[in-house]
Amino acid sequence: MNLDRLMSFENNIRDRFNLEGRVAVITGASKGIGAAIAKGLAEFGASVVVSSRKLEAVEAVAEEIRSAGGKAHAEACHVGDPLARKELITNTLNHFGSLDILVNNAAINPYYGPFDTISDEAFYKTFQVNLDAVRALSNLAASHMKKEKWGSIIHLSSIESFHPGKGMGVYSLTKATLNMLTMTQAKEWGREGIRVNAIAPGLIETKFSAALTDNASIMRHIEENVPAGRVGQPEEIAGLAVFLASDAGSYCTGSIYTVDGGFMLTGAL
Ligand SMILES: NC(=O)c1ccc[n+]([C@@H]2O[C@H](COP(=O)([O-])OP(=O)(O)OC[C@H]3O[C@@H](n4cnc5c(N)ncnc54)[C@H](OP(=O)(O)O)[C@@H]3O)[C@@H](O)[C@H]2O)c1
Repeated sequence: MNLDRLMSFENNIRDRFNLEGRVAVITGASKGIGAAIAKGLAEFGASVVVSSRKLEAVEAVAEEIRSAGGKAHAEACHVGDPLARKELITNTLNHFGSLDILVNNAAINPYYGPFDTISDEAFYKTFQVNLDAVRALSNLAASHMKKEKWGSIIHLSSIESFHPGKGMGVYSLTKATLNMLTMTQAKEWGREGIRVNAIAPGLIETKFSAALTDNASIMRHIEENVPAGRVGQPEEIAGLAVFLASDAGSYCTGSIYTVDGGFMLTGAL
């Protein structure tokens, strides 16, 4: 790590959360957890590149951030598209001049059902977006971060990575492999100044999880068994992302952090 850039330990803990002068890219940031993380990082001073497949949708989030006094730029990027990934990183460097934080948040779950009846197409597509795109985008960001000996990469995993949720085996498989990618990257890139961590949310109320949160029996299970007694909100993930992105988290690398209201203490769904 470029220790010259690390904030002095004489600074108070509040200062160590300051992201002024840092540039962050967040994928899948038009809504849900990605949008909440983009807003959170911007609130702490980072210049954020808000990205998803739909330019209009990310432009709206970027405008919201700018109206609140933050620095934001919108970029369309389908993370499964190699050319779009390259452009996302190049355009970030051209627009804001650096890249310090990458949040790999975009993911898909196109199939609910038994593990053995998913089509090959859906199987590989889930891996392409949830794992391969994360690997490739991290490599692109790391090639810049290595030159600076400085960077924080955050992946969005899931509690499904620790146990297969009913009908979500393939999604669970991609997220479990993402955990190993997190640890591998952290180990290989640590001496290059790059920290890599993952956040594993429990059930968070977003469009992505609507099939679960609209299910009365699942909601009853959550209310009766999960210590928090409720599902989470996207904003409840943003604080940890700010911590991991900032100097407050400077000794954190290679870990998978659950944010799940205690869900892991209960049985699987
Ligand atoms: N919600 C939960 O309960 C939960 C739990 C555990 C983990 N997670 C993880 O948290 C992350 C965010 O989920 P969320 O619940 O916030 O989902 P969400 O509200 O549905 O948002 C998904 C975001 O990803 C974008 N996206 C989808 N496919 C994309 C692609 N191929 N390329 C680029 N962007 C793409 C969407 O925007 P566009 O449509 O504009 O592209 C949207 O901005 C995911 O990694 C998910 O696995 C969620």
